[in-house]
Amino acid sequence: MKKEKVLIIGSGGQIGVELALALRKVHGTDNVIASDIRDPHPILKESGPFAILNAMDAPAILELIRKEGITQVYLLAAMLSATGEKDPKRAWEVNMQSLLQLLDLGVQEKLSKIYWPSSIAVFGPTTPHHNTPQQTVVEPRTVYGISKYAGELWCQYYHQRWGLDVRSLRYPGLISWKSAPGGGTTDYAVEIYHEALKHKKYTSFLSEDTYLPMMYMDDAIRGTIELMEAPAEMIKTRMSYNLSAMSFSPKEIAASIRKHIPDFTIDYAPDFRQQIADGWPKSIDDSAAREHWNWKHEFDLDKMTAEMLGNLSK
Ligand code: SER
Repeated sequence: MKKEKVLIIGSGGQIGVELALALRKVHGTDNVIASDIRDPHPILKESGPFAILNAMDAPAILELIRKEGITQVYLLAAMLSATGEKDPKRAWEVNMQSLLQLLDLGVQEKLSKIYWPSSIAVFGPTTPHHNTPQQTVVEPRTVYGISKYAGELWCQYYHQRWGLDVRSLRYPGLISWKSAPGGGTTDYAVEIYHEALKHKKYTSFLSEDTYLPMMYMDDAIRGTIELMEAPAEMIKTRMSYNLSAMSFSPKEIAASIRKHIPDFTIDYAPDFRQQIADGWPKSIDDSAAREHWNWKHEFDLDKMTAEMLGNLSK
């Protein structure tokens, strides 16, 4: 088997920290270079090679690919839904330019695989909200969603036109304790655990019955690696795969926390993120991922709550 050398761009973010650790187990520590525009997250600093790299700087990425003999790239740098709405043009530029440049580098440098995450944000208010199918009405209303949907189409195009092996998942809201999220609409479901342990109370920026699709980070990382390791013939869509684990509301996550912290209280002060959440699916049909490459989630809400509170309180 050909030895893979992996570059992760945007590795300092919520997904990148844990993905770097997991990929180092798969490919060997020295074969996974983590990179970010900022100084390394403490976990990355101690766990293997790291480079400062701007996801928009194509010449620097090319240089690193050649110098290190990179064969696979994971591009995780992006502006998420809530941050994107504050500076739409910048979000479009960051999210699209970084992808298009990498797709070109992928063809030019004959990379064996590229990974690029998409999101439930590709869906919008006109999409069926319950069990949202893999293929359905797609009319995103956030700049983040627009950039993710356009990106999916570009990935599919590069696959069909140039045979580039680019793979993608539509992540739901991701919940993790090792690294913090930034700028997302689903981030309340991470903050709430921190606040529950620190102050036994939380003010949610989404209303109590706002259901959203969510996933524990362990499942997301395993799913990502399983998708990337699957034989190419199992990947039957070169758009992005729907991926699902659970769906809950702020009220339900609070009830789950109360099983461990009985005097935890929650109140609600919805802000501009409410409108973003209202446009997104409440639950996702991911049967294509389950059928094509055997995706299976492991964590439900209560199992995740136990893990989150247990790890954060250490
Ligand atoms: N977690 C992301 C966000 O809320 C969705 O992909 O922006």
